[in-house]
Amino acid sequence: MENLKINISKTSNFLLQSDINKYQTAVANHHEALAKKTGAGNDFLGWLTLPEDLTPQMLQDIQDTANELKTKAEVVVVIGIGGSYLGSKAVIDALSHHFSHLQKDKANPLVVFAGQNICADYHADLLEMLKDREYAIIVISKSGTTTEPAIAFRLLKQDLELRYGREGARGRIIAITDPVGGALRKMATNEGYKTFSIPSDVGGRYSVLTAVGLLPIAVAGFDIKSLVEGAKVMKKISDKTASLYDNPVSIYAAVRNALYKRGRNIEILVSYHPRLQYIAEWWKQLYGESEGKGNQGIFPASVGFTCDLHSMGQWIQDGERTIFETVLTVKDTKHRVEIPLDKDNLDKMNYLAGRSLQEVNQMAEKGTLLAHIEGGVPNIAIEIPEINEYYLGQLIYFFEKACAISGYILGVNPFDQPGVEAYKNNMFALLGKEGYEQLAESLKAKL
Ligand code: PA5
Repeated sequence: MENLKINISKTSNFLLQSDINKYQTAVANHHEALAKKTGAGNDFLGWLTLPEDLTPQMLQDIQDTANELKTKAEVVVVIGIGGSYLGSKAVIDALSHHFSHLQKDKANPLVVFAGQNICADYHADLLEMLKDREYAIIVISKSGTTTEPAIAFRLLKQDLELRYGREGARGRIIAITDPVGGALRKMATNEGYKTFSIPSDVGGRYSVLTAVGLLPIAVAGFDIKSLVEGAKVMKKISDKTASLYDNPVSIYAAVRNALYKRGRNIEILVSYHPRLQYIAEWWKQLYGESEGKGNQGIFPASVGFTCDLHSMGQWIQDGERTIFETVLTVKDTKHRVEIPLDKDNLDKMNYLAGRSLQEVNQMAEKGTLLAHIEGGVPNIAIEIPEINEYYLGQLIYFFEKACAISGYILGVNPFDQPGVEAYKNNMFALLGKEGYEQLAESLKAKL
């Protein structure tokens, strides 16, 4: 069976071999630091062994809960923000029918998300959409105190309780949170909700292979065992630390740091498949929150081609040369769609008649690759054979482990996010939260 592959050959115009080779020892040491838990943030390494730690019983419990929700709800609202929603959203979008919200006679509930913003219109529209639909909630917060999901949960819990009574609502709410602490754990215990725990040593953005990601993915009807299997295989592949070039995780971490050292401050994750858009959003959080520290770190950006070639293409081809691209290539699509012949041929597209859209998409990809290299953009290619649970599992574990190694190369703790507190403190002060009076005074003077 094929596995995820990485190709760095299209960085050779921009890097010397020695730029990459110099990371050989550091990368081997960082693998060792992860395995022996001796590096920064070593109390947050539970994600490393998740693919093996997930027992068949644990997966069955998640699957059974998903199956039960399916019998009760046509819509399941997943409440969470950041790492508590992006992983499941990414996998569900990657595997779903592009127009799943309009599909009739769906076998599985529609999974929608809330608590990832505080927009009144979003939540009003959500409540209106739920009015004549049977629904359930999966509320996810590791800390249990995050403002955005807490507000959304308050709104939806009240709505559920008005509709089904407190007892009825209880059977429609699943909480995923810290094993012991936090407001959500307390509330779940008081109300008697079914719960799943996020292991204390797994941070939000590394939690997709816990119930945080797996339960919503199972509710949407996708194969969580295969997802975990894929991650397990990537764990084995990336365990090999011997050669920098034989380990996809090591080489990705080394090359992106080598490019960064040569002034490439922005990494653009590129995909030619619209259903991978949220994989890029998940990746942006993973790398942005892990590496953007101490006034350093590559800025993770993303584009969807060929669409964005008509908006961002000019900048990428010809703008400031501080970027590199990482292209997420998919070898095969699920469907073959052929371009029809047209007798009038006014659009002059008959030269494509009988050829598949995938072929055209692939030629667009190759043509763009060559144009961008010509334009001065280094290119890393990450290829998966197809978009399915198994390869998404490989991809998730690949990016997580490479992120940890890359963060260590950079010299940061890839598992904390102290910078996220600044906006929260200001927001609390401006909203008049107790304990923030002094900050509120100083902010008012600045506004
Ligand atoms: O990666 C992280 O830790 C964060 O992005 C969190 O996932 C996010 O802030 C949500 O936190 P919580 O799950 O505690 O509500």
